[in-house]
Amino acid sequence: MNILVTGGLGFIGSHTTIELIKNNHTVIIADNLINSKIEVLDKLSTLAGIQPTFYQIDVTDEAKLEEVFVNHKIDGVIHFAGLKAVGESVSKPLEYYYNNLVSTMILSKICVKYGVSKFVFSSSATVYGDQPSPLKEDMELKKTTNPYGETKAMSERILTDTSIANPNFAVSLLRYFNPVGAHESGFIGEDPNGIPNNLMPFVTKVAKGQLEKLSVFGNDYDTIDGTGVRDYIHVVDLAKGHVKAIENLKEGVNIYNLGTGKGTSVLELVNAFMKVNDIDVPFDIVGRRPGDIATCFADASKAEKELGWKAELGIDEMVRDAWKFEQNNR
Ligand code: NAD
Ligand code: UFG
Repeated sequence: MNILVTGGLGFIGSHTTIELIKNNHTVIIADNLINSKIEVLDKLSTLAGIQPTFYQIDVTDEAKLEEVFVNHKIDGVIHFAGLKAVGESVSKPLEYYYNNLVSTMILSKICVKYGVSKFVFSSSATVYGDQPSPLKEDMELKKTTNPYGETKAMSERILTDTSIANPNFAVSLLRYFNPVGAHESGFIGEDPNGIPNNLMPFVTKVAKGQLEKLSVFGNDYDTIDGTGVRDYIHVVDLAKGHVKAIENLKEGVNIYNLGTGKGTSVLELVNAFMKVNDIDVPFDIVGRRPGDIATCFADASKAEKELGWKAELGIDEMVRDAWKFEQNNR
């Protein structure tokens, strides 16, 4: 298939591009580089052996985006492009609503116009709100706690309604849990701008000596050791899930959790990082971070049953590959 990957130079999009090429698909990337670097394109060429066609465009620019569909016969779209920092979304709600919703609306409008029948969307476990884990796809969604989460819930509704009105437009809503790790080459990985918000990139920067200490946000949750529990998933497993999702897309709207089904606490993750990589990560326990929940992990059985996809890599591979990338990354 000819697959348009929006946000294809970002963390998850770049790993997915490699897996798509490995599975003989042709990838066309559209990215405005707001949170990625052009060097990733050369790295992708080295790793995949083929240079994907690249358009440096903003997906909210309808005229420029339409040119891509005029130039290529697109069979499917994987829509990663979006802003994703939860804290920033609270201080810049309009940027988040504009970028994440307008991009989804314009892309789906053009897909319908050009008869593109396969659309895969990057959603998030955040749409479940605070509910008991394991989280299942058929649970009722609860109010999310920030504008970023709202853009994911609203995008899911926009795509669902578009698919109902246009039965040829099949949609897969992929709810990611906590993607971490990097390509095993250590060549591409997660490279956020500024001080990381997420746990794993913060840990790698502390290990490297670029940040002094990790703050563990709370040890008084009702969890195994009092620290927050999440379902960490290796980004390469997540990338493979996208290939399965677009290749096996059924009519209508399909929702899948992409997680491992296992919860890991902050301290368990940090300890695994120190042990596997034989390096110290100094940390302090501090107060809870506003908006955090105690526990979030997936029931991942639907994706296994319907897509034949299951996460294969464990915490040890996640912390090993995240560290390998950090050491290579300047
Ligand atoms: P990322 O920031 O690394 O990648 C997003 C890419 O999209 C970047 O390359 C950025 O330059 C590009 N982009 C943003 N807005 C654009 C626009 N208007 N036009 C063109 N390009 C644009 O993020 P990621 O971690 O790879 O996440 C990919 C998607 O998955 C996002 O939609 C994110 O919300 C979602 N998601 C991520 C996580 C996570 O923890 N990483 C969890 C759940 C969902
Ligand atoms: N944490 C710390 N210290 C840090 C950073 C995080 O203790 O410096 C803790 C958090 O309190 C939480 C856990 O580590 O218990 C994971 O936090 P992250 O910020 O890495 O991830 P979140 O689960 O808060 O959110 C992430 C993405 C969201 C996405 C969600 C889906 O940031 O975009 O996963 O589950 F929606």
